[in-house]
Amino acid sequence: MNRTTHAIITLLVLVTTTAAAAKDAPSVEHGNKLFNSTSLGTNGKSCATCHPNGKRLEYIADLDEKKLLPIVNSCIVNALKGKSLADDSPELGSLVMYLNTFGKNNPK
Ligand code: HEC
Repeated sequence: MNRTTHAIITLLVLVTTTAAAAKDAPSVEHGNKLFNSTSLGTNGKSCATCHPNGKRLEYIADLDEKKLLPIVNSCIVNALKGKSLADDSPELGSLVMYLNTFGKNNPK
């Protein structure tokens, strides 16, 4: 393999891994999608079914992440009949980021 080919392949690998990492990183957009999606549960409901436009979430600015994660998971398990998400998963991270967009409008 000549040098140029090697450089191109190295570059391609770098670009692909960076793109994959960006896809897995938590984001507000992904959180928004999950919040409105019925895929987190098994009963056809989404978070938005019970929390349209952030209803009942006005005071989450008071909750730090340690408290918020188990609450979100309890809504997934009890309200959506779904499986709880790992604390360090990009899904839960994205949901929390999105939830914070509601709380921010209503600080304490
Ligand atoms: C079947 C209805 C229902 C669904 C679906 C639901 N929730 Fe809830 N959620 C509630 C109720 C009821 C409460 C308690 C509200 C209260 O105490 O005022 C609550 C509380 C919460 C709280 C705590 C609010 C606070 O200030 O203490 C968070 C955060 C939350 N839900 C997030 C979610 C997320 C994220 C989803 C989707 C994964 C979800 N919920 C799905 C009904 C639901």
